[in-house]
Amino acid sequence: MGGPLLNTIAQGHAFMQFVDGRAVDALSGERIDVICPSDGAVFASIPASGAADVDRAVKSARKAFDEGPWSTMPAVERGRCLTRLYQIVEKNADELAALESRDTGKPARQGRADVTATMRYYEFYGGAADKVHGDTIPFLEGYTALTLREPHGVVAGIIPWNYPMQILSRVVGAALAMGNTLVVKPAEDASLSTIRIAELALEAGVPPGVFNVITGYGRDAGAALSAHSEIDYVTFTGSPLTGTAIQQAAAVNNRGVTMELGGKSPQIVFADADIEAALPVLINAIIQNGGQTCSAGSRVLIERPIYEQVAAALAERFSRLVAGPHYADLDLGPLINGRQRDRVANMVAAAQEAGAQVLAQGTIDPAAPSSGCYHAPVLFGSVDPSIQLAQEEVFGPVLALLPFDNEQDAVRIANSTEFGLVAGVWTRDGARQHRVAKRVRAGQVFVNGYGAGGGIELPFGGFKKSGHGREKGFEALFDMSATKTIVFNHQ
Ligand code: NAI
Ligand code: MG
Repeated sequence: MGGPLLNTIAQGHAFMQFVDGRAVDALSGERIDVICPSDGAVFASIPASGAADVDRAVKSARKAFDEGPWSTMPAVERGRCLTRLYQIVEKNADELAALESRDTGKPARQGRADVTATMRYYEFYGGAADKVHGDTIPFLEGYTALTLREPHGVVAGIIPWNYPMQILSRVVGAALAMGNTLVVKPAEDASLSTIRIAELALEAGVPPGVFNVITGYGRDAGAALSAHSEIDYVTFTGSPLTGTAIQQAAAVNNRGVTMELGGKSPQIVFADADIEAALPVLINAIIQNGGQTCSAGSRVLIERPIYEQVAAALAERFSRLVAGPHYADLDLGPLINGRQRDRVANMVAAAQEAGAQVLAQGTIDPAAPSSGCYHAPVLFGSVDPSIQLAQEEVFGPVLALLPFDNEQDAVRIANSTEFGLVAGVWTRDGARQHRVAKRVRAGQVFVNGYGAGGGIELPFGGFKKSGHGREKGFEALFDMSATKTIVFNHQ
């Protein structure tokens, strides 16, 4: 199991964080255990940082931004740096994939897919860095007005544990392409790939102080970072509750934020859909990464005439799904930790109490270590759209099926949660494809397909409680910069 680095991580390896281009420990010397959720074993440790560490990292990023050269260097040079990082990530792909899988428990092939996406982020933003430009604006006689796209300054990135390397890289790619400097706080449950990418970025020529990493708990390091007065902008992906706390902290300094806060994304299957094409996609959208995906397709809305048929086909496939350790590379891995497994189990129990019917369950591989954090996939049928299971993010391998009567009913149910991140529409009717895609409140709509987390080029973000601002694609470069207007009077 695992690539070259895994074989060289001595048991109990003490990872460091990165400040000003140097690997440093927390000032307090305190550490957090790194646990592999496949077997619950502690295999390394990371620094447990507090406010003083955050302050040191922010000062380093501040100095790097104010003194340059990162923010003032030609955009093409920043782009070349990111392109070199893409190439270095590619060279270290096996090691990074193995590290990510062991840290999060995700199946080996998902670890590899995450590295491929990571490479794409640096490739995309490396190429995009010198293609962002402002406008000249028709103004009064005797004046010339133009706009520049300027970096915010020091960006704080608070990263979740579900796709740590990918989500880190979408932040780093867009923020650095625009000339910002960064302080990143990865999740306490999954910090290793962030630490390693920061190290590789130095190798790629990103100057010291431009990309700092602080590891630690959210309530300590995360809270101190989002409240720091020398931060210019905060970007966060994670739970709505923590998103609110981060926005409140940033509001004290009136700083801008980008928030990606998950969803309860629907896939709508009409009676005329190509069901054979839809089935594997419907399954994958909830099983990928054990359902721990912000854009997981966690509700499937099925038109009544085909409801029984589609429910039976999904149940048959669900009953064959197997969860097991990352190295066994089965359909899904464990959940990130025991707390998440218990949360999923509690939501499954609550759904049963609320009258939802279990149509099928997958299994846990008998060879999976009993100390791992496994939860078998569960398929619920005839779910009432108003119960918790249909309204709240489970963040686990739990799928809710909901019947609907017609197009209007489908749109109403699809829009009946507080979220609005992604949606899928399955129909052969072209006019309906357009109508429904426009009426569903979601930041991304896929027609006859679904991209749980995919598509580096595609702007991504939510409506309603799913958050605000857009990441990914060219659009992220606008979020990671601000417009400056300059007016020349030459009368
Ligand atoms: P969380 O949202 O609390 O954690 C995400 C990140 O925020 C981590 O880096 C954490 O250290 C940091 N953080 C926590 N409290 C903070 C604070 N007060 N100030 C600044 N940073 C803080 O998520 P958690 O507790 O790990 O998971 C709980 C639930 O959140 C999950 O069950 C899932 O439903 C949801 N979640 C959604 C994600 C998404 O991609 N939409 C990702 C992770 C979790
Ligand atoms: Mg871990």
